[in-house]
Parts: sequence; structure tokens; C-alpha cells
Amino acid sequence: MAALDNSKVVAVIGSGAMGAGIAQVAAAAGHTVKLYDTRPEAVNKAIDSIGAAYGKLAGKGKMSAADAEAAANRLYAAASLEELGDAQLVVEAIVENLDAKRALFAQLEAIVGEETILATNTSSISVTAIAAQLRHPARLAGMHFFNPVPLMALVEIVSGVATDAAVAQTLYDTATTWGKQAVHAKSTPGFIVNRLARPFYAEAWRLLNEQAADAATIDAVLREAGGFRMGPFELMDLIGHDVNYAVTKSVFDAYYNDPRFTPSVLQLELVNAGFLGRKTGRGLYRYDDEAEVPAAQAEPKHERPEYVGYSLEAGAGGELTASMLERFKAHGIAITARTSAEGHLHGEAPAFHCNGAAIYLTDGRTATERARANGHDDTVVFDLVLDAAQAARIAVASADQCNPAAFDAAVALFQTAGFTVTRLDDVPGLAVMRTVAMLANEAADAVQQGVCSAQAADLAMRKGVNYPQGPLAWADAVGVAHIVKVLDNLAATYGEDRYRVSPLLRRRQAARRNLHA
Ligand code: NAI
Repeated sequence: MAALDNSKVVAVIGSGAMGAGIAQVAAAAGHTVKLYDTRPEAVNKAIDSIGAAYGKLAGKGKMSAADAEAAANRLYAAASLEELGDAQLVVEAIVENLDAKRALFAQLEAIVGEETILATNTSSISVTAIAAQLRHPARLAGMHFFNPVPLMALVEIVSGVATDAAVAQTLYDTATTWGKQAVHAKSTPGFIVNRLARPFYAEAWRLLNEQAADAATIDAVLREAGGFRMGPFELMDLIGHDVNYAVTKSVFDAYYNDPRFTPSVLQLELVNAGFLGRKTGRGLYRYDDEAEVPAAQAEPKHERPEYVGYSLEAGAGGELTASMLERFKAHGIAITARTSAEGHLHGEAPAFHCNGAAIYLTDGRTATERARANGHDDTVVFDLVLDAAQAARIAVASADQCNPAAFDAAVALFQTAGFTVTRLDDVPGLAVMRTVAMLANEAADAVQQGVCSAQAADLAMRKGVNYPQGPLAWADAVGVAHIVKVLDNLAATYGEDRYRVSPLLRRRQAARRNLHA
């Protein structure tokens, strides 16, 4: 089925932040848009603000003045639901309450035509449940926009159990012609983004709780090594801890307390304290005038190491190690290649070695455990970076039994290659690796459960929450086998079901296949 022709009327019910944004996008795409709200003043405010937004776009040359005026003239205030009878698509963006949404759609069914598509912008309620009491539940689907609607490209098209596939496809095609990136999703708790993003926050809370580092340091590592636009803590301060905690709790409850989604007691305490983030002037950070921006931990500068070697054995860190090696060479570091036997190492081959330190890419074990397993005390592990050629920062940890001079030599190696080096406590999987492994694990489960395709999962995370890389493509780049190893080691270390490996990841690993074909 094709997109809804822009000669068709679109109704938007609820004229708050989301409804106004949806109306702005639909009218700009050429539809006549009728706005309705139980508070008429909200409709007037929305129409004024949309007109002003078009004006700004015209001022910046992003829309012609004539188009801006024409789009504004396509917006109409509806004084009652009855005035929406000619709408071919109704998008609901009222309060997040099942009973209110059901009552509204029941009323609408008596007003609109048989062919009219009903869409809900809910972010957390089952689309199946919203549709359940309708005479024609097949014509209702979720059309989940992201805030702010005109700027965020993603729209999740959510099918409930009864939704007609043709209805979902029309909404997908319509969102596409409105300039959005649509993805199909099955109605399951959190849909795609709100479910798949949970580990980004959850692993950060775990790291903070285990005192891997302070919040500013963890944020800096995720940003400057992981390539995320914002660190998890500064992002939660922006979202509001009350809102972020409530989403986590609702996903946790909806999946019957699956430990993957366990909320953080640290975050609950912030909510208890009223430290909700930017909006209250304090969250993990302070936002008052005198507040100092806390600095992320960085190791003091060390001298260029005398000797650096790398192992010739296959599998000592894969492509990431290879691109790290290129960076070392580009910074004029002389590197000697040797086999482990030549270096008299008896355990696994380290990616690099330097003044006695064996340096490995984290595999989800602590450096301490790995030192013990290899019988080599001077062990240092480094974290995943998004791009070994570009990353500004890298996180490292050393074994408890490591000699400080050996650790300093490893730090010096990365510093000589231009990295700011951050030392984390010796937590398993460090920060970026563990976050990416858990993001990919959740995405793989969603794909296996038919919630969305692998392409949709990655697109949703890039367009809905601005991740620098889709989690599944990222896992492919790191290597599916390595991601599985990290998760298995986390599961073994913690003894928690939370780190269980997605069956799809394990299957792809066994088949030596990537997650993306
Ligand atoms: P909002 O509170 O800004 O606006 C809701 C509007 O709906 C208000 O103007 C209210 O008067 C009106 N309203 C309430 N009950 C109504 C009824 N029975 N009939 C007609 N109008 C009614 O809320 P917001 O943020 O715009 O959210 C709306 C919906 O969008 C919710 O379902 C929410 O979960 C969903 N959503 C919100 C996102 C966000 O970031 N704010 C993101 C994605 C979805």
C-alpha cells in the first residue's frame, strides 16, 4: 500500500509538545491538519508555535516564505471531535493513560469513516491493548515519534496483535514521505528504542555502583572513546532521573523482572533526594552558577616507552588491534613483532607488550583474573574504542598484582599515540566494551523475538538516540565471537542471569556469521 496522499486530511489529537510537532511535520508535507485538544487554548498555542517554527525555517532558508505561509494555512483548530469526521488518518498524542486512549478511540470510531487509519503516539502502552475494544482493531497501529518531532528523524511504526500489515505499511510509507526514517516494530514493552537503550544507562549505573570511576570519568570514556554524543549520566541529567527511572522500571515490570532491566538503587536515591537533573538544578552534576564542571580522571604524562612489541598470533584482539597498531606506527613508535614463544609468554598472546606489561583488549574478565590465568602478573587491559584512528581517550585497568612501573609503561604507550588515558578500577569488561556488548545482546534478542529486523534495530538506535553506530553493526565490527566471550565472562564473574548471551548471538558465533548478512 502506498503512502497517504497529501490531499488527505490528518487529525492530531492532543496539542502538547508531541501533538504540535506531529502537526507541524504533517502540514509541512502538504496535508490539511486538524488539531483537537480538550483544552482549546492548547490548540491555539500549538498553531501559533507551529507558525512561528515555519517562520524561523523560512528565515534560515530551509523553507520558502510561500511554503511556510501555505503550511501554516493548512492548520485548523477543531472545536470538537465531530469536526474530525473527514480525516483519513488520526494521530493521537494525549495523556499516557490506557483508559483515556481507549475511550478516545472508541468515540472516534463512531465519527470517522471505515477506511480511516488510527494511530497512537504512545511510548509505553501496549498498542494491542489500546486497540482491543475497537470494532475494527486492525486499523490501529502505533506511530511513535521522538521528541522534538521536527528534529528527530525516527518514527517507530508499531503493530499490535490485530494490526493489519497494510495499515502498518501505509503509516511507514507516509512517515517516509514526511521526511522521517520509519522502522517497523512489534508491540512489545519499550518497542525498539526504549528497550534497546536500557543497557546504555544500566551498565553506567553498575560501573558507578562498583566504583569503577566517578560519573564525569565514565561519561568522558563513553563520549571520547565510545563516540557517544553524550555520556550516560549527563544524558540522564538532561532527560530527568524521574522520567528515566520510570521508563526503566516500566520495562523491568513489563518483562516480569528480567534482571537485564533491573533499575539502579543509586538512581532511585537521586529521585528520592529530588535531584532530578538539569530541571531541578542538580542531578549527578550541579547546574547552579557556582558549580564547577568535574574533570574526568586522566593519568599523568609518562615518558615514551623504550620497547614495544606486538604478538603475531592470530586472534590477539582482531581488527581493533590492527588499527591500534597503525596508530602507534603513525605516532612514530617503533614496534617489534614477535611470537609469544619468543617472548617466553606461556598464556594467551597479548595484543601488545611493553616494558614487561602484557596488554590485552578486554574480554570481559578482570585484568587480575587474566593475570592469574596466564601466570603473568604485569597485565593491563584496554577498553573498546569506536575508532582506533580517531578516539581521543582510552580506558585501561591493571591487575591488582601488576607492578606500577609496568602499568605506567602501558599508559605511556597509549599516551605516545595521542590518547588521553583514563584508569578505571579493574572491573570486568571495562566501560565501552561492556556497554556495547550489552546493547548488542539486547538488540539481538529483539531481532530473534521478531520485534524488529537487524536493520531496523540499528537504524532506530542511530536515528532515535543518535548512537554513533548501530549496536549490531558494532558487534559485527568488534567480532561476534569476541562479544559472546565478553558476555560469557561477565556472566561468569557476576553469576547473574543479566549477562546471559542472546541465543541469536551464540548461533551467529557458531556459524561464524555476522549479525548483518
Ligand atoms: P503533553 O502533556 O505535552 O500534551 C498532552 C495534551 O493532550 C495536553 O495538551 C492535554 O490537554 C491533551 N489531552 C489530554 N487528554 C485528552 C483527551 N482525552 N482528548 C484530547 N486531548 C487531551 O504530552 P506530550 O509530551 O505531548 O505526550 C503526548 C503523548 O505522546 C503521550 O502518550 C506520550 O507518552 C507520547 N510521547 C511523548 C514523548 C515525549 O518525549 N514527551 C515522546 C514520545 C511519545
